[in-house]
Amino acid sequence: GCRFVVLISGRGSNMQAIVNAVHEGGLAAQVCAVVSNKVDAAGLAWARDQGIPTVAVPHRDYSSREAFDAALADAIDAWQPHYVLLAGFMRVLTPVFVERYSGRLINIHPSILPAFPGLHTHQQALAGGVQWHGCTVHFVTPVLDHGPILAQGLVPVLAEDTPDDLAARLLQVEHRLYADVVRWLAEGRVALDAMQRVQVRGVDSRAFVL
Ligand code: GAR
Repeated sequence: GCRFVVLISGRGSNMQAIVNAVHEGGLAAQVCAVVSNKVDAAGLAWARDQGIPTVAVPHRDYSSREAFDAALADAIDAWQPHYVLLAGFMRVLTPVFVERYSGRLINIHPSILPAFPGLHTHQQALAGGVQWHGCTVHFVTPVLDHGPILAQGLVPVLAEDTPDDLAARLLQVEHRLYADVVRWLAEGRVALDAMQRVQVRGVDSRAFVL
């Protein structure tokens, strides 16, 4: 079956959605391990409770991004995953790391890319006055938050929204979106065409609206 390693930095709610999608979807797939750059990430404890192997690779133990990424790659490669899924993983990865997992490294970003790459996307959306906010699941390339798009989810922005309100509304869509993408990957339906655009067999729309 399809082997996933999931990378987290904190709460891990997207990681939980991925694990649940694999279990409840009856997929020929498994989450082999959950890896974090933070020893005390809440998501690691949840994964351990589920019987999923966990690994911490604390970034502060390494003197450079290159050294950290090399240790991270060693931790990942021990599980021989088909795909590495970033789920609230908050470290920027080096081009060497990204190229190593070319076509196999996927991220969820909390904005409608290419709008609002980087951090504090909910604040950015409110400051921009946009009426729709959203999230993007995409292949990771060396350019931050810019790779081929697998799926996008939209939520409305309401008049009185705070960044936290918007984040909470969007999180439901994130979970739904990542679960769908994991199913497509596990079923071997995802490909990149010659233009580096994503194709998913048997799926008409990869847009979701709350
Ligand atoms: C999610 O909203 C995810 O989209 C975002 O962090 C949150 C993690 O929550 N990711 C990024 O900002 C990536 N730069 P979770 O740990 O509960 O999944």
